[in-house]
Amino acid sequence: MTTKINFNGEIHDELNISVMDHGFLFGDSVYEVVSTLNNKFCFLDEHLDRLYNSAKAISLTIPRDKEWFREQLKNTLIAAGNDESYVRIIVTRGVGEINIDPSSCEHPNIILMVMDVTEYPKSYYEKGIQVALVSIKRNPRDSLNPNVKTGNYLNNVLAKMEADKLGAQDAVMVNPWGFLTEGTTSNLFFVCEGHILTPSMECGILSGITRQLVIQLAKENGFHVEEGKWPGEELFKADEIFLTGTLKKVMPVSNLDGRPVGSGKPGPITLSLLRLYDDLLTKKA
Ligand code: PDD
Repeated sequence: MTTKINFNGEIHDELNISVMDHGFLFGDSVYEVVSTLNNKFCFLDEHLDRLYNSAKAISLTIPRDKEWFREQLKNTLIAAGNDESYVRIIVTRGVGEINIDPSSCEHPNIILMVMDVTEYPKSYYEKGIQVALVSIKRNPRDSLNPNVKTGNYLNNVLAKMEADKLGAQDAVMVNPWGFLTEGTTSNLFFVCEGHILTPSMECGILSGITRQLVIQLAKENGFHVEEGKWPGEELFKADEIFLTGTLKKVMPVSNLDGRPVGSGKPGPITLSLLRLYDDLLTKKA
């Protein structure tokens, strides 16, 4: 159970970071969460591509190339020596003056955290989780675009707090126009009359790496997948609901706002995608 933290290329057991870093002061940073299987990174190229795209979207120039990240991540993973790890890659705007203008931040900081991973309970996959459709709205695309994975997650933190209050394990948010978007750290899928539906990028979501893979797997296996815009109420008509993400993988939802989803148990399409995704992970590792 070791944690190792790589700070700009140096590996530490613990790290103190300046309170003048704009990542701390303003959430002015970008990040990725990567999982491992058999102690190898899962879909690292895709995560690094998204990290660079997020940085570009907030005009943050990452001072190192992807090869540097691959090398440093490998060294840090070896130093931690866990069976499996939770890996977090963070690039902050860096230390600057105590005002919102980022121009005083000359050196972005790169932090690579490798920690022991805490997996979700098996029962979540066997029985499904409870989700709440919360009142907090997902950021619209023309404010802080949800497709940019920044360290500013307060929108999602508030949604998670609302879900907790309602006794649910996670939240699903709609956008300001009432259309379904995503979970707090996951993408949303639901099944209606055998069709797999998922909110489109237009609704204001993160282009999840797991989401893309699940869409591809579903299509390859003969399922009909549709990306589109659906009002929040539509979710109550679903026969099945599931969330996807690096840590959640494919997680069944069996209860929405206190009402059972379909039979109240993980549905057959969710379970087959869960299996297909697990197989894909195993094949890649
Ligand atoms: N979150 N939507 C949001 C808002 C997310 O934060 C995430 C991932 C996803 C799923 O993306 P992916 O399949 O690429 O992991 C969707 C990570 C796991 C996190 O912040 O912990």
